[in-house]
Amino acid sequence: MNDKVDFDDHKDTYNALLRESVGFFSPDEAYFARYKVELVKKAARSERPLRILEYGCGIGRNIPFLKAAFPTAVIEGSDVASASLEMARKENPGVSFYLEDGSHDAEPFDMIFVASVYHHIPPAERSAATASLFRRLRSGGELYVFEHNPYNPVTRRIVNNCPYDADAVLLKPAELRSLIRGASFEVTASAYCLFIPPKLSALAWMERALGWLPLGGQYWVRGTRA
Ligand SMILES: C[S@@+](CC[C@H](N)C(=O)[O-])C[C@H]1O[C@@H](n2cnc3c(N)ncnc32)[C@H](O)[C@@H]1O
Repeated sequence: MNDKVDFDDHKDTYNALLRESVGFFSPDEAYFARYKVELVKKAARSERPLRILEYGCGIGRNIPFLKAAFPTAVIEGSDVASASLEMARKENPGVSFYLEDGSHDAEPFDMIFVASVYHHIPPAERSAATASLFRRLRSGGELYVFEHNPYNPVTRRIVNNCPYDADAVLLKPAELRSLIRGASFEVTASAYCLFIPPKLSALAWMERALGWLPLGGQYWVRGTRA
């Protein structure tokens, strides 16, 4: 496996690289953040979670959408990349961001949102990372994890060509579900997503119907803490 990527090296070019990789699907790179947060908003058991963590938030691209979708929630972001967090802080005043160095002791969360992070966590560290997310949720709290779909050849090609994916080790949905179960969560939902580009919005209704088909660009899994 390649050395771990330091996302701080890509913080100023992150959005441009994303546009380059997935511009064929949507020229608006914010589309992906909006899409995932809207999906979570529809799937969430609670309409008004009080506290939400975005784990692995990077430069904070998903945070404005989380704020808009859950306007009454306290939202926090965390990452292992400190300069990326600095950018996230500047772009999102009023939101707390902290470094994932094991020193932060937060109040429990009602929801944890994780997008495109697990494939950057070395496989040997994934169980411990998932257990730490379990501990940070209150009873009834929900973990939402989005990951690249390794069964989709286009997704695999994008990952192979993207500089910040040099350390990526993709996970099959069954592997992610097993990690989540192994950390004592109940897996309460799992589906493929990102089938229909926004220019075909008339077909957007098909997204939910296709969740079983292993051809979406990504997939998501929900773990619930009993
Ligand atoms: C592809 S970026 C995704 C950023 C953000 N979630 C998004 O959707 O825009 C992956 C992020 O995961 C972070 N990351 C990698 N390993 C991590 C870990 N063990 N704990 C927390 N964050 C991690 C990286 O620093 C990077 O910011």
